[in-house]
Amino acid sequence: MNRFEGRNALVTGGASGIGAATVRRLAAEGARVAVADLDEAGARDVAGEVDGFAVVLDVSDDDSVRAGVASAVEELGSLQVLVNNAGTDRFSFFSNSDPELWDFVLGVNLRGVLSVTHASLPHLQAKGGAIVNLASEAGRIGVAGSSIYSAAKAGVIGFTKAIARESARYGVRANAVAPGPIDTPLLRSIGTLGAVGEKWLRLTVEATAPKRLGTAEEVAAAIAFLASDDAAYVTGQTLGVSGGLSMW
Ligand SMILES: NC(=O)c1ccc[n+]([C@@H]2O[C@H](COP(=O)([O-])OP(=O)(O)OC[C@H]3O[C@@H](n4cnc5c(N)ncnc54)[C@H](O)[C@@H]3O)[C@@H](O)[C@H]2O)c1
Repeated sequence: MNRFEGRNALVTGGASGIGAATVRRLAAEGARVAVADLDEAGARDVAGEVDGFAVVLDVSDDDSVRAGVASAVEELGSLQVLVNNAGTDRFSFFSNSDPELWDFVLGVNLRGVLSVTHASLPHLQAKGGAIVNLASEAGRIGVAGSSIYSAAKAGVIGFTKAIARESARYGVRANAVAPGPIDTPLLRSIGTLGAVGEKWLRLTVEATAPKRLGTAEEVAAAIAFLASDDAAYVTGQTLGVSGGLSMW
Protein backbone atom coordinates (compact mmCIF):
# COMPACT_ATOMS: atom_id res chain seq x y z
CA MET A 1 0.00 0.00 0.00
CA ASN A 2 1.18 3.52 -0.80
CA ARG A 3 -1.65 5.50 0.73
CA PHE A 4 0.55 8.46 1.74
CA GLU A 5 2.52 8.97 -1.47
CA GLY A 6 3.06 12.71 -1.93
CA ARG A 7 1.76 13.50 1.57
CA ASN A 8 3.55 15.03 4.53
CA ALA A 9 3.00 14.09 8.16
CA LEU A 10 3.89 15.41 11.60
CA VAL A 11 3.99 12.85 14.42
CA THR A 12 4.46 14.14 17.98
CA GLY A 13 6.14 11.79 20.41
CA GLY A 14 7.62 10.08 17.36
CA ALA A 15 10.85 9.04 19.08
CA SER A 16 9.41 6.04 20.95
CA GLY A 17 6.70 3.39 21.20
CA ILE A 18 3.49 3.98 19.25
CA GLY A 19 4.79 7.23 17.75
CA ALA A 20 7.92 5.61 16.34
CA ALA A 21 5.87 2.72 14.91
CA THR A 22 3.52 5.29 13.33
CA VAL A 23 6.43 7.19 11.76
CA ARG A 24 7.71 3.91 10.27
CA ARG A 25 4.26 2.91 8.99
CA LEU A 26 3.43 6.27 7.39
CA ALA A 27 6.88 6.46 5.79
CA ALA A 28 6.62 2.88 4.53
CA GLU A 29 3.42 3.94 2.77
CA GLY A 30 5.08 6.91 1.08
CA ALA A 31 4.79 9.84 3.52
CA ARG A 32 7.56 12.28 4.33
CA VAL A 33 7.51 12.51 8.11
CA ALA A 34 8.58 15.09 10.68
CA VAL A 35 9.43 13.29 13.93
CA ALA A 36 8.61 15.75 16.73
CA ASP A 37 9.69 14.96 20.27
CA LEU A 38 11.28 16.26 23.45
CA ASP A 39 13.89 13.55 22.99
CA GLU A 40 16.17 14.96 20.30
CA ALA A 41 18.48 11.94 19.98
CA GLY A 42 15.55 9.51 19.79
CA ALA A 43 13.76 11.66 17.21
CA ARG A 44 16.92 11.83 15.09
CA ASP A 45 17.37 8.04 15.25
CA VAL A 46 13.80 7.33 14.11
CA ALA A 47 13.88 10.08 11.47
CA GLY A 48 17.17 8.69 10.16
CA GLU A 49 15.57 5.26 9.62
CA VAL A 50 12.87 6.67 7.32
CA ASP A 51 14.59 9.56 5.55
CA GLY A 52 12.48 11.98 7.57
CA PHE A 53 13.70 14.70 9.90
CA ALA A 54 13.61 15.50 13.59
CA VAL A 55 11.91 18.46 15.23
CA VAL A 56 12.56 19.15 18.90
CA LEU A 57 9.47 20.41 20.66
CA ASP A 58 7.68 20.25 23.99
CA VAL A 59 3.94 19.92 23.38
CA SER A 60 3.23 21.51 26.78
CA ASP A 61 5.02 24.74 25.80
CA ASP A 62 3.10 26.88 23.27
CA ASP A 63 6.17 28.81 22.07
CA SER A 64 8.07 25.59 21.49
CA VAL A 65 5.06 24.14 19.63
CA ARG A 66 4.65 27.18 17.38
CA ALA A 67 8.35 27.20 16.49
CA GLY A 68 8.46 23.40 16.01
CA VAL A 69 5.37 23.22 13.80
CA ALA A 70 6.56 26.20 11.74
CA SER A 71 9.96 24.61 11.12
CA ALA A 72 8.36 21.26 10.26
CA VAL A 73 6.00 22.84 7.73
CA GLU A 74 8.81 24.90 6.24
CA GLU A 75 10.88 21.75 5.68
CA LEU A 76 7.92 19.66 4.46
CA GLY A 77 6.38 22.39 2.27
CA SER A 78 2.82 21.43 3.29
CA LEU A 79 1.05 19.27 5.86
CA GLN A 80 -1.67 16.67 5.27
CA VAL A 81 -1.44 14.39 8.34
CA LEU A 82 -1.10 15.30 12.01
CA VAL A 83 -0.74 12.56 14.62
CA ASN A 84 -1.03 13.96 18.16
CA ASN A 85 0.70 11.09 19.90
CA ALA A 86 2.99 12.62 22.57
CA GLY A 87 1.78 11.55 25.99
CA THR A 88 2.91 10.59 29.43
CA ASP A 89 1.63 9.65 32.89
CA ARG A 90 2.77 9.77 36.50
CA PHE A 91 0.87 7.04 38.32
CA SER A 92 -0.66 8.25 41.58
CA PHE A 93 -3.91 7.85 43.45
CA PHE A 94 -5.84 11.09 43.13
CA SER A 95 -5.91 11.71 46.88
CA ASN A 96 -2.08 11.71 46.82
CA SER A 97 -1.81 14.06 43.84
CA ASP A 98 -1.36 17.83 43.84
CA PRO A 99 -2.08 20.70 41.43
CA GLU A 100 1.45 20.52 40.06
CA LEU A 101 0.83 16.94 38.95
CA TRP A 102 -2.60 17.88 37.50
CA ASP A 103 -1.02 20.67 35.44
CA PHE A 104 1.80 18.43 34.24
CA VAL A 105 -0.37 15.49 33.12
CA LEU A 106 -3.12 17.68 31.62
CA GLY A 107 -0.46 19.93 30.06
CA VAL A 108 1.11 17.15 28.00
CA ASN A 109 -1.87 14.89 27.30
CA LEU A 110 -4.70 17.39 26.73
CA ARG A 111 -3.36 20.92 26.40
CA GLY A 112 -0.53 19.58 24.23
CA VAL A 113 -3.08 18.21 21.76
CA LEU A 114 -4.86 21.59 21.67
CA SER A 115 -1.60 23.49 21.17
CA VAL A 116 -0.19 21.33 18.36
CA THR A 117 -3.58 21.18 16.62
CA HIS A 118 -3.97 24.98 16.86
CA ALA A 119 -0.55 25.55 15.30
CA SER A 120 -1.11 22.92 12.58
CA LEU A 121 -4.72 23.60 11.54
CA PRO A 122 -4.07 26.48 9.12
CA HIS A 123 -1.66 24.21 7.21
CA LEU A 124 -4.03 21.22 7.24
CA GLN A 125 -6.94 23.41 6.15
CA ALA A 126 -4.98 24.75 3.19
CA LYS A 127 -5.13 21.45 1.28
CA GLY A 128 -7.32 19.15 3.38
CA GLY A 129 -6.00 16.45 5.62
CA ALA A 130 -6.46 14.24 8.63
CA ILE A 131 -5.80 14.48 12.34
CA VAL A 132 -5.42 11.38 14.51
CA ASN A 133 -5.30 11.93 18.26
CA LEU A 134 -4.02 9.40 20.78
CA ALA A 135 -6.69 8.98 23.41
CA SER A 136 -6.78 5.87 25.61
CA GLU A 137 -9.29 3.38 26.94
CA ALA A 138 -8.48 5.15 30.23
CA GLY A 139 -10.52 8.07 28.89
CA ARG A 140 -13.57 5.83 28.35
CA ILE A 141 -13.52 3.41 31.28
CA GLY A 142 -11.31 5.24 33.82
CA VAL A 143 -8.18 3.76 35.37
CA ALA A 144 -7.46 3.78 39.11
CA GLY A 145 -4.06 5.38 39.70
CA SER A 146 -4.39 7.37 36.46
CA SER A 147 -7.28 9.72 37.25
CA ILE A 148 -5.72 12.85 35.75
CA TYR A 149 -4.55 10.95 32.68
CA SER A 150 -8.07 9.46 32.34
CA ALA A 151 -9.55 12.99 32.51
CA ALA A 152 -7.08 14.24 29.90
CA LYS A 153 -7.81 11.38 27.51
CA ALA A 154 -11.58 11.83 27.90
CA GLY A 155 -10.92 15.48 27.01
CA VAL A 156 -9.04 14.40 23.89
CA ILE A 157 -12.07 12.35 22.80
CA GLY A 158 -14.42 15.35 23.25
CA PHE A 159 -12.00 17.69 21.47
CA THR A 160 -11.68 15.24 18.57
CA LYS A 161 -15.46 15.26 18.04
CA ALA A 162 -15.73 19.06 18.12
CA ILE A 163 -12.77 19.65 15.84
CA ALA A 164 -14.15 17.07 13.40
CA ARG A 165 -17.33 19.16 13.13
CA GLU A 166 -15.47 22.48 12.85
CA SER A 167 -12.94 21.26 10.29
CA ALA A 168 -15.13 19.30 7.88
CA ARG A 169 -15.76 22.40 5.77
CA TYR A 170 -12.01 22.58 5.10
CA GLY A 171 -11.76 18.92 4.09
CA VAL A 172 -10.08 17.98 7.36
CA ARG A 173 -11.13 14.85 9.27
CA ALA A 174 -10.32 14.22 12.93
CA ASN A 175 -10.43 10.88 14.71
CA ALA A 176 -8.90 9.29 17.78
CA VAL A 177 -7.57 5.89 18.71
CA ALA A 178 -8.02 4.51 22.21
CA PRO A 179 -5.25 1.99 22.86
CA GLY A 180 -5.48 -0.53 25.66
CA PRO A 181 -2.32 -2.00 27.23
CA ILE A 182 0.37 -1.65 24.56
CA ASP A 183 3.91 -2.90 25.10
CA THR A 184 5.89 0.38 25.10
CA PRO A 185 8.23 2.21 27.52
CA LEU A 186 5.21 4.15 28.87
CA LEU A 187 3.39 0.95 29.83
CA ARG A 188 6.55 -0.56 31.28
CA SER A 189 6.93 2.52 33.53
CA ILE A 190 4.04 1.04 35.55
CA GLY A 191 6.86 -1.05 37.04
CA THR A 192 7.70 1.99 39.20
CA LEU A 193 4.59 1.08 41.22
CA GLY A 194 6.05 -2.32 42.15
CA ALA A 195 3.57 -5.07 43.12
CA VAL A 196 0.53 -2.79 42.68
CA GLY A 197 1.58 -2.01 39.13
CA GLU A 198 2.24 -5.67 38.32
CA LYS A 199 -1.19 -6.66 39.63
CA TRP A 200 -2.89 -3.87 37.64
CA LEU A 201 -1.11 -4.96 34.46
CA ARG A 202 -2.01 -8.65 34.99
CA LEU A 203 -5.69 -7.84 35.60
CA THR A 204 -5.81 -5.44 32.64
CA VAL A 205 -4.34 -8.00 30.26
CA GLU A 206 -6.82 -10.60 31.62
CA ALA A 207 -9.66 -8.16 30.85
CA THR A 208 -8.76 -8.04 27.13
CA ALA A 209 -10.48 -10.63 24.94
CA PRO A 210 -7.25 -12.16 23.53
CA LYS A 211 -5.54 -11.87 26.97
CA ARG A 212 -2.33 -10.31 25.71
CA LEU A 213 -0.64 -6.94 25.38
CA GLY A 214 -0.98 -5.09 22.09
CA THR A 215 1.98 -3.96 19.99
CA ALA A 216 2.88 -0.45 18.88
CA GLU A 217 2.63 -1.68 15.27
CA GLU A 218 -1.00 -2.76 15.80
CA VAL A 219 -1.87 0.76 16.96
CA ALA A 220 0.12 2.33 14.11
CA ALA A 221 -1.92 0.28 11.60
CA ALA A 222 -5.16 1.76 12.99
CA ILE A 223 -3.67 5.28 12.97
CA ALA A 224 -2.61 4.83 9.34
CA PHE A 225 -6.13 3.67 8.41
CA LEU A 226 -7.75 6.71 10.05
CA ALA A 227 -5.21 9.08 8.45
CA SER A 228 -5.72 7.58 4.98
CA ASP A 229 -8.39 8.02 2.32
CA ASP A 230 -9.65 4.54 3.25
CA ALA A 231 -11.33 6.39 6.14
CA ALA A 232 -12.68 9.21 3.93
CA TYR A 233 -16.18 8.95 5.49
CA VAL A 234 -14.94 8.42 9.06
CA THR A 235 -14.66 11.46 11.31
CA GLY A 236 -15.19 12.30 14.97
CA GLN A 237 -14.72 8.65 15.95
CA THR A 238 -12.66 6.96 18.64
CA LEU A 239 -11.41 3.53 17.59
CA GLY A 240 -10.49 1.17 20.41
CA VAL A 241 -7.23 -0.70 19.72
CA SER A 242 -7.32 -2.58 22.95
CA GLY A 243 -8.17 -6.22 22.43
CA GLY A 244 -11.77 -5.33 23.30
CA LEU A 245 -10.87 -3.99 26.76
CA SER A 246 -13.97 -1.89 26.30
CA MET A 247 -16.66 -2.55 23.68
CA TRP A 248 -18.93 0.24 22.38
N1 LIG B 1 1.32 2.23 25.85
C1 LIG B 1 0.06 2.16 26.20
O1 LIG B 1 -0.36 1.17 26.83
C2 LIG B 1 -0.90 3.27 25.86
C3 LIG B 1 -2.25 3.06 26.12
C4 LIG B 1 -3.16 4.05 25.82
C5 LIG B 1 -2.73 5.23 25.25
N2 LIG B 1 -1.41 5.43 25.01
C6 LIG B 1 -1.02 6.72 24.41
O2 LIG B 1 -0.23 6.51 23.26
C7 LIG B 1 0.66 7.60 23.10
C8 LIG B 1 2.07 7.07 22.91
O3 LIG B 1 2.44 6.37 24.08
P1 LIG B 1 3.61 5.29 24.14
O4 LIG B 1 3.10 4.19 24.96
O5 LIG B 1 4.15 5.04 22.79
O6 LIG B 1 4.65 6.09 25.06
P2 LIG B 1 6.24 6.25 24.99
O7 LIG B 1 6.63 6.73 26.34
O8 LIG B 1 6.89 5.06 24.42
O9 LIG B 1 6.43 7.44 23.94
C9 LIG B 1 5.94 8.73 24.19
C10 LIG B 1 6.81 9.74 23.44
O10 LIG B 1 6.27 11.04 23.72
C11 LIG B 1 7.36 11.91 23.99
N3 LIG B 1 6.89 13.00 24.83
C12 LIG B 1 6.48 12.93 26.13
N4 LIG B 1 6.18 14.15 26.58
C13 LIG B 1 6.40 15.01 25.56
C14 LIG B 1 6.28 16.41 25.40
N5 LIG B 1 5.91 17.19 26.43
N6 LIG B 1 6.57 16.96 24.21
C15 LIG B 1 6.99 16.20 23.18
N7 LIG B 1 7.14 14.87 23.25
C16 LIG B 1 6.86 14.28 24.43
C17 LIG B 1 8.39 11.04 24.70
O11 LIG B 1 9.68 11.64 24.64
C18 LIG B 1 8.27 9.74 23.92
O12 LIG B 1 9.15 9.73 22.80
C19 LIG B 1 0.49 8.49 24.33
O13 LIG B 1 -0.39 9.57 24.03
C20 LIG B 1 -0.15 7.56 25.33
O14 LIG B 1 -0.89 8.24 26.31
C21 LIG B 1 -0.48 4.48 25.29
